[in-house]
Amino acid sequence: MKIPRKLDLAHLPTPLQKVNFRNTSFYIKRDDLTGLEMSGNKIRKLEFLMKDALRYGADTIFTTGGEQSNHSRATLIAASKLGLKSRLYLWGKDKANPEGNLFLDKLLKPEIKFVRKKEFLNISRIMKEDKNQLEKRGRKVYIIPEGGSSKLGIWGYIDFYNELESQLNLKKISGIVSAAGSGGTAAGLMIGSALKNVEHDIYVVNVLYEKKIITERILNLAEECIRKYRLPVKLNSHRLKVISGYQGKGYKFSTKESIALSKDFFRKNTILFDPVYTGKAFHAYYENFLEGKARTNIMFLHTGGLFGVFAKRKDYY
Ligand SMILES: Cc1ncc(COP(=O)(O)O)c(C=O)c1O
Repeated sequence: MKIPRKLDLAHLPTPLQKVNFRNTSFYIKRDDLTGLEMSGNKIRKLEFLMKDALRYGADTIFTTGGEQSNHSRATLIAASKLGLKSRLYLWGKDKANPEGNLFLDKLLKPEIKFVRKKEFLNISRIMKEDKNQLEKRGRKVYIIPEGGSSKLGIWGYIDFYNELESQLNLKKISGIVSAAGSGGTAAGLMIGSALKNVEHDIYVVNVLYEKKIITERILNLAEECIRKYRLPVKLNSHRLKVISGYQGKGYKFSTKESIALSKDFFRKNTILFDPVYTGKAFHAYYENFLEGKARTNIMFLHTGGLFGVFAKRKDYY
């Protein structure tokens, strides 16, 4: 088994907290606390990806996401910390008064290309073409795909199990719930749990892709990683459970129910969720595992995204 090397960019370990909400107790793993500017799940993946970018000798990082992409913000900040230039390909429009993640992005003055949805769907090809152009002129460009979800990036959540194991007996939990965008977090969790011989379920709440697509993406990514790194595990695809129906009108929109629940949770537990990922995932978690129960042994993974709250603050009134 070849274990890739990583940089030390995140504040780890993140706390594992036991909380109580509406008379149900449960564990929440605070990956919203991996840092401030580089907060959230993405930085675990970036520790591996940025190491590889330095190995490649990159002077520039390309990455992509929505205009409020947490991943793009974390990547840009990590790149700046390492003295690298960045170009972001953001699905959306430029704003005179940017909010949330886009506000932070713009403070660092990277090159930003705003793209339409049609281009975003072909963004890997576009980034490759642009990389070739720049490299002909002597630059070295490292491309990080959407969400940092590559065979290498998902090591962030394979490695996560070493940390979790040091915080609790893994047999005490029968599953983990997480939001899924590009699917890399879930792919890493599938492999990480298998390597620890823990047969618990990985529940994902899809907020970007439909159930069939996200299922394929997660399983394919996990299989590719297992092959590339010759990992001694066999995936049991039945352990991956997609809980859909919490996306609302789509990725860029919050839902009334998840905002109402998030506000109540914040008031009682002082833990905040974002409107796009963790708020929707917590809504699913609440309805499927908490409501009406005294306790649950399914853990909630808080993957961060908190700057997104400020971009949608009107939805909270
Ligand atoms: C806050 C937050 N939670 C969850 C996710 C989903 O992670 P993944 O893309 O690995 O599925 C993302 C990114 O897409 C995110 O920014």
